[in-house]
Amino acid sequence: MHLPRGSAVAATVVAMFFTTVQLELTRDPKVTRHCAGQDPEMTQGAYTDPATGIDFTTWSANPDSDGDGAFTFGLALPEDAATRDATEYIGLLRCQIKSPDHTGWCGIAHGGSMVQDLLLMAWPYNNDSVLTSFRWATDYFPPDPYAGAGAGSTVVDQISSWVNDTGYELIYRCRGCLSWEQDGEEGAANTTAGRLFLGHAQSFDAPGNAGCPAEMVVGFHDNGYGQWMASLEGVAREEYEEWAALATQTVVDDCAAGAATATVTAAAG
Ligand code: HEM
Repeated sequence: MHLPRGSAVAATVVAMFFTTVQLELTRDPKVTRHCAGQDPEMTQGAYTDPATGIDFTTWSANPDSDGDGAFTFGLALPEDAATRDATEYIGLLRCQIKSPDHTGWCGIAHGGSMVQDLLLMAWPYNNDSVLTSFRWATDYFPPDPYAGAGAGSTVVDQISSWVNDTGYELIYRCRGCLSWEQDGEEGAANTTAGRLFLGHAQSFDAPGNAGCPAEMVVGFHDNGYGQWMASLEGVAREEYEEWAALATQTVVDDCAAGAATATVTAAAG
């Protein structure tokens, strides 16, 4: 096709404009990850909890590079997890708090997806404790309490927690958390595969009804989310049983009139 000179110049200018826009968009990690189907890298590390001596392999979001909030997930698995699919793990969640309100929530998707997956949420409460709730989403809407057949034996026992001006941390034993089923949809995180596909999400806003995990209402994750592949090399630990026995921390919530006390948070909560 033969275009008059003016049209050719205009076409070149339009092409340059779109190229520039495209380049700008691909520099934005949020756009890149959704267009390319990739999430920002998580940085793998190691962390030993000074109070308990628990050794974790950790994965951290990089707030400076992707704009998401500071988030770290740590994992320790039973000694035989490489040869027999583990049914439990010891986890660490260290997440960002909104100051000065001291609000937020963060969570893990045990199969990497938000939908039809076992979601564990954790959030600071009363400036001195971290509450948890297992959730299940059938779509990209606020997830409801997990109510699958195995919900009664899907349990968090807390080992330790803290809340300060910049963040909050929970170290917990998660029993029955590596397989799930609800309404005919099932899945599992198989440790014998040598890697787990995981998801994370966090928000600055406090959940509604924050004092009562079973009645907690959650909003969108406005402080980062993503998926990553976690290599399990070195994550199984021979001290696992010893560390799991430390999961005795009492958790106080406000579900009943006054304060109810529980040592564990079962999936119904
Ligand atoms: C009101 C509550 C929530 C809403 C409306 C919501 C909405 C969404 C939407 C729309 C996406 C897709 C975003 C995109 O691809 O650009 C998404 C992704 C994701 N969400 Fe949520 N979410 C909520 C709560 C949660 C919770 C509580 C968790 C975990 C504890 C979670 C974990 C994830 C993860 C891991 C992803 C990335 C993987 C995927 O797309 O499935 N979300 N969410």
